[in-house]
Amino acid sequence: MGIHIPVLLNECIDSLNIKKDGIYVDCTLGRAGHSSEILKRIPEGHLYCFDQDEEAIKESKARLEAIGSNFTIIKSNFAYIEEELAKLGVTKVDGILADLGVSSPQLDEAYRGFSYNADAPLDMRMDLDNPLTAKIVVNTYSLNDLTRVIRVYGEDFDAYSIAKSIVKRREQKPLETTFDLVDAIKAGKSRKSLRLKGHPAKQTFQAIRIEVNHEEEVLNRMLEKAPGLLKKGGRLAIITFMSLDDRVVKEAFHRLSVIEGDRHGMLLRPEEVPTPNYHLFNKKPILPSEEELERNHRAASAKLRVLERN
Ligand SMILES: C[S@@+](CC[C@H](N)C(=O)[O-])C[C@H]1O[C@@H](n2cnc3c(N)ncnc32)[C@H](O)[C@@H]1O
Repeated sequence: MGIHIPVLLNECIDSLNIKKDGIYVDCTLGRAGHSSEILKRIPEGHLYCFDQDEEAIKESKARLEAIGSNFTIIKSNFAYIEEELAKLGVTKVDGILADLGVSSPQLDEAYRGFSYNADAPLDMRMDLDNPLTAKIVVNTYSLNDLTRVIRVYGEDFDAYSIAKSIVKRREQKPLETTFDLVDAIKAGKSRKSLRLKGHPAKQTFQAIRIEVNHEEEVLNRMLEKAPGLLKKGGRLAIITFMSLDDRVVKEAFHRLSVIEGDRHGMLLRPEEVPTPNYHLFNKKPILPSEEELERNHRAASAKLRVLERN
């Protein structure tokens, strides 16, 4: 329990093209799986690590200290990457990594309330300073808002009936625990979808976790800020685990790597055609190898996309 195996580790290290005196940023320190490998490769550089989870920071600090002292841990949401680095006088970096989502220890620690497999208070916050909890979402959001959250972030066809079931139950008694929520979800699922493979609460738990942690909003903000921090040749590598996140990253990288005016290029002389500031390092996302999938089932839905500054 509590072990986190870093996903696509070699692929990330290769993609970041690490220079021994480079400045790197890990947006999602977690248990320092990726950060440790980056730190080992930059004896003359510096690593800045973000995490919003105090527990992750406490655990990882000693692990990094055993490798070197040339790192700084920042307890903040990666949405504030630009502001937090600026406070430290850093405006340009050689590489940025983000390994999105929750870590295995967060899922495994029942008290965090992320898991539908263990009964615990409804929490799901990665950052314990965040005032919004899963309990607040399920007990106070309107039927419409709950339906939207479950439909958009959970991509669950039964969103409306699950939301209705949650609302019906909370009229009797507020939902307090993860198992209260699991029961409400099961009661709202159609018989047909209950027969499908996978836990019936998986998508709704995912949806509520995304809402609680404002995951879509902070990813978009990071994608607005991080590319501008890269030096020429610097790379931004992002691992996603959900189709929703992958779409957001793919579209942002695409927008940054094409020039809208390209379509009108015919009107310009070749020397007048502007070149975009970025290009896609890999046209198709990098996926885990068969061997990694055998070792780590968490890698199953992982996709790595990399953007390079021209
Ligand atoms: C998938 S884990 C990263 C695991 C890490 N790469 C490793 O190998 O140990 C994601 C971590 O990022 C943190 N995290 C997720 N979203 C974040 C955000 N918006 N800002 C800061 N930290 C975030 C989580 O608290 C969690 O510890």
